[in-house]
Amino acid sequence: MGQAEWARDLAERLLAEPLPRRWAHSQGVAARAESLAPILGDEADILTAAAYLHDIGYSPKLVDTGFHPLDGARYLRDVAGADERLCRLVAHHSCAVNEATERGLLNILNAEFAQERPELVEALTYCDMTTGPDGRHLDAYERLAEIHSRYGPDHLVSRSITTSTPCILAAVDAVETKLRELSAR
Ligand SMILES: [Fe+2]
Repeated sequence: MGQAEWARDLAERLLAEPLPRRWAHSQGVAARAESLAPILGDEADILTAAAYLHDIGYSPKLVDTGFHPLDGARYLRDVAGADERLCRLVAHHSCAVNEATERGLLNILNAEFAQERPELVEALTYCDMTTGPDGRHLDAYERLAEIHSRYGPDHLVSRSITTSTPCILAAVDAVETKLRELSAR
């Protein structure tokens, strides 16, 4: 069994019942990840696994610090015994360092989880930031606007997303450039 299948089952158990919309989003992000197989080859499996799992830290059972990338990655490492690369991808998904800074958790995040290969990190950011909260495809600007309107201007998440915007757009651009290059060949 590939990691993606294992991840799908685990994420479904943690999200489907308490947070059905998060689960729909995660499935949409995973579908985007699968679609990147032409540029990622064999690594599409680990990316798809990370896509299913990236938001499990929102599951009520897992909430500890309240910073979902860290709570999710710790669960994967300490409870699920997941592959180290998967833990790293979840810990740092979608430019999480900026929200970690806002929450005073940057040193802890970086001490516990190293960064994964930049191409994979970018690919996960691309998948997350081009998928809406209900799992449908959005472009990155629509997705950023959606996050701002969902949380409101004064929320820590909105502030973090503002700080993360250059990182998010650079990741989306890097992946779209690779897809364009591939289709031009
Ligand atoms: Fe997330």
